[in-house]
Amino acid sequence: MWETGYADLPGFPRVSVPGHAGRLVLGRLAGHDVCVLSGRFHLYEGHSPGDVSAGVRLLHELGGRILLVTNAAGSLRRRWAPGTLLLVRDQLNLQWTSPLVGRPPAEIHDMFPDMSEPYDPELRRLLREAAAAAGVPLAEGVYAAVLGPSYETPAEVRFLRRAGADAVGMSTVPEVLAARERGLRVAAVSCLTNHAAGLSTEPLSHAEVVAAGARAAPRLEALVRGFLRALPS
Ligand code: HPA
Repeated sequence: MWETGYADLPGFPRVSVPGHAGRLVLGRLAGHDVCVLSGRFHLYEGHSPGDVSAGVRLLHELGGRILLVTNAAGSLRRRWAPGTLLLVRDQLNLQWTSPLVGRPPAEIHDMFPDMSEPYDPELRRLLREAAAAAGVPLAEGVYAAVLGPSYETPAEVRFLRRAGADAVGMSTVPEVLAARERGLRVAAVSCLTNHAAGLSTEPLSHAEVVAAGARAAPRLEALVRGFLRALPS
């Protein structure tokens, strides 16, 4: 295993959000070479869409072929309580920007990437099977990315539900766009850390989001290990 801080990676932005470690780990896990990026960059920190996807560029240049994204998200369904894990089936880009806008010509792999299946069906099947085998309940739905950093208003949550979203968060979509353009296969699992605004009487806080994420970590770990074990090399 080899590990370093993002500060040692040339051209990598700095993480500023509590709970995001800013570490890169290379090693072997369940029979695969893995690169773990612990801590991500968000548009709401003022990073450009290109900087937000710096990790995806690095993974691709290291020879990575599959991107498994995890995130924290608000639940837009009453039946999914805080702590539920959700397999992302599709996404809504409500951040109205993309890391693919204005790429230098040398970085264009595909000018107009197809997004009809952003989340790989075979990887989703493996994740569903791994969840069943590990006894981990796994919801499935559409992830909507908003800019943040404020949480949504109840009116925005009603809008998101009508737009077909099942979960809302402030990340992931830029990374998935950058990964798909480079031909990486993508899967994503959200930890629904809270009911979105208006679905619960509690005000939202980052501390609650971090705490709910930590409680879900053992289930997420079992899911990821099971997924990697089932993944052909
Ligand atoms: N909204 C947006 N992003 C989030 C939420 C939420 O309710 N919870 C965790 N990330």
